[in-house]
Amino acid sequence: MYDSFNRKINYLRISVTDRCNFRCTYCMPEEGVPLMSHHDILSFDEIVELTRLAVSKGIDKVRITGGEPLVRKGIVSLVKMLADIDGIKDLSMTTNGALLPKFAYDLKNAGLNRVNISLDAMDSQRFSEITRSGNLDEVLKGIDSADEAGLLPIKLNCVIKENSLEKDALAVKAFAEKRGFQVRFIHEMSLADGSFSVVEGGEGGHCGICNRLRLSADGQLFPCLFSDIGYSIRELGGEEALNLALKNKPKSGTTSVGHEFYNIGG
Ligand code: 5AD
Ligand code: SF4
Repeated sequence: MYDSFNRKINYLRISVTDRCNFRCTYCMPEEGVPLMSHHDILSFDEIVELTRLAVSKGIDKVRITGGEPLVRKGIVSLVKMLADIDGIKDLSMTTNGALLPKFAYDLKNAGLNRVNISLDAMDSQRFSEITRSGNLDEVLKGIDSADEAGLLPIKLNCVIKENSLEKDALAVKAFAEKRGFQVRFIHEMSLADGSFSVVEGGEGGHCGICNRLRLSADGQLFPCLFSDIGYSIRELGGEEALNLALKNKPKSGTTSVGHEFYNIGG
């Protein structure tokens, strides 16, 4: 499918929960955030139905995000349901990695191809400061589990303040090189200010070649991370929501006061 600026849209990012076991400083306030209520959260069947429809129209790349997707109950069965859809060439997940020791093998067996894992520092103290409730050793074990389970290629997401020559970023880069992982350096953004920028080593932030749509955990289809327009698949039905999101995908992003990374998954 093509949007009104003739961009080919083939990538769907699905946020499966707004909950998270971390509280990264750039993402959430320490006390957490008001959470979506349970009956607003899409069921697995609703997610799969929308995805199947989107795939029939040309989506062939799907990423599962959060919050932290691995805290959603039954996530492995959702992965299996998505992996069973014919036509998805690349099924991936963005995770903070802490629960990967528990889930990596099951995710691989369910049909997940690969993971992106957030890793902002290699020093335990710095890591705890940034994630507030995260533990570096757990995440490193998670990375090992993903590697052993074959969730490859592993990409590391590293949020930077100024540039990729910062101390923490350099340490993450050295770790990645040693282990053969790719790193994507993502500038810390504020959606409300419209301060977004390109991702070093990734595709994000290039409006002219943007190929994505996002589905939030409560069923809004968002054509752009940096804009508040969204279409409810429950209110409009999947077909209409998809058509409207395509038709109204902005040429480039501006600002968004309604989105936060924990509810839209970056
Ligand atoms: N700026 C940039 N990236 C962010 N993420 C979350 N919050 C922000 C922010 N304010 C991204 C990180 C993380 C992923 C889940 O979301 O890259 O790895
Ligand atoms: Fe959780 Fe990811 Fe936000 Fe950190 S960035 S609080 S791991 S959703």
